[in-house]
Amino acid sequence: MDFQTLRWKGGVDGCLCLIDQTRLPVEFVEIECHEVDQVWHAIRTLQVRGAPAIGIAAAYGVCLSLRGASGRVEQLIARLDAAAERLAGSRPTAVNLFWALQRMQKAARRLGDLPASQWREAVLAEAHAICEEDGRMCRAIGRHGAKLLADGTAVLTHCNAGGLATGDYGTALALIYAAVEQGKKISVFADETRPLLQGARLTAWELHRRGVPVTLICDSMAAVVMRQRRVSAVIVGADRIAANGDTANKIGTYGLAVLARAHQVPFYVAAPTSTFDLTIASGEMIPIEQRDEQEVTQWGARRIAPEGIGVFNPAFDVTPAELISAIVTENGVIQPVGEAAVRAVCGPQNGGVS
Ligand code: MRU
Repeated sequence: MDFQTLRWKGGVDGCLCLIDQTRLPVEFVEIECHEVDQVWHAIRTLQVRGAPAIGIAAAYGVCLSLRGASGRVEQLIARLDAAAERLAGSRPTAVNLFWALQRMQKAARRLGDLPASQWREAVLAEAHAICEEDGRMCRAIGRHGAKLLADGTAVLTHCNAGGLATGDYGTALALIYAAVEQGKKISVFADETRPLLQGARLTAWELHRRGVPVTLICDSMAAVVMRQRRVSAVIVGADRIAANGDTANKIGTYGLAVLARAHQVPFYVAAPTSTFDLTIASGEMIPIEQRDEQEVTQWGARRIAPEGIGVFNPAFDVTPAELISAIVTENGVIQPVGEAAVRAVCGPQNGGVS
């Protein structure tokens, strides 16, 4: 990719640099986080967003709690645990956040009694490993999923599950990038994705930047786009996938899956195994983030709805497994979607939180 969604700058006392996604596409601005609270704020306000990217940011956020720290390993672990607890409260739905934090905590405990500087180096190395693995997983998702896209396919996607939502390359958009790299002609319809417009601002930006033909539509236009056979596949990312394959993703995804079924369009989910939560049986148990009502009642800084009305603003919805044609992971394609196939592809060691 020709941009880096997030990166660690410097050595063990370095900082986390993020593209501020709230300012795209008008401004391309990188921000530096030097404190855990800055990372918490960046995740909470969607300066960094998308399930895998949130996980990577949190892993590096934990490292920030150790800047300049000395002392015994138990004291360092206490600092790291406090940071993990703080970051875990930033957003509730994307399981990659909790997966990455748990992985950092487990890795820190495995290190044993090292001098503080060596111990901190090793903790940072674990965060780098999470970031690098993400890049490899996204490319593997692209390789497996590109087989589902014939030359000439037009795809509908929702929200942003591209390079901006991961360390690199994306999940849903990885299928498209990989197919294009194989020489196939692929075009994309991008839902604008109300209320925060990740489709219009971010997906359209990164596809256009990479030379993939993209047509922007309002969310309400998806039905007619399918009815007129303008697309032959829907591909979305995921924030948390339950053991039975039920999938939480950006609000509006469930509606798209219903529409896709009604119009016999295949509906694909693309996600790394770190997005699976095998501790929960079905999507009913996935916590859904409720966000500020101003995201719905305001257009930018301008109020667009009367004062005093009720507002419902869930950030995500759950698509039942029976509406999903296949889930593409770095380990292969789950098709048909069901618990046995999910567990087989995730394996005993993989699969979100434990
Ligand atoms: O609220 P957001 O922008 O973090 O929501 C992001 C999504 O819903 C993405 O589709 C999902 O995280 C998959 S990202 C590869």
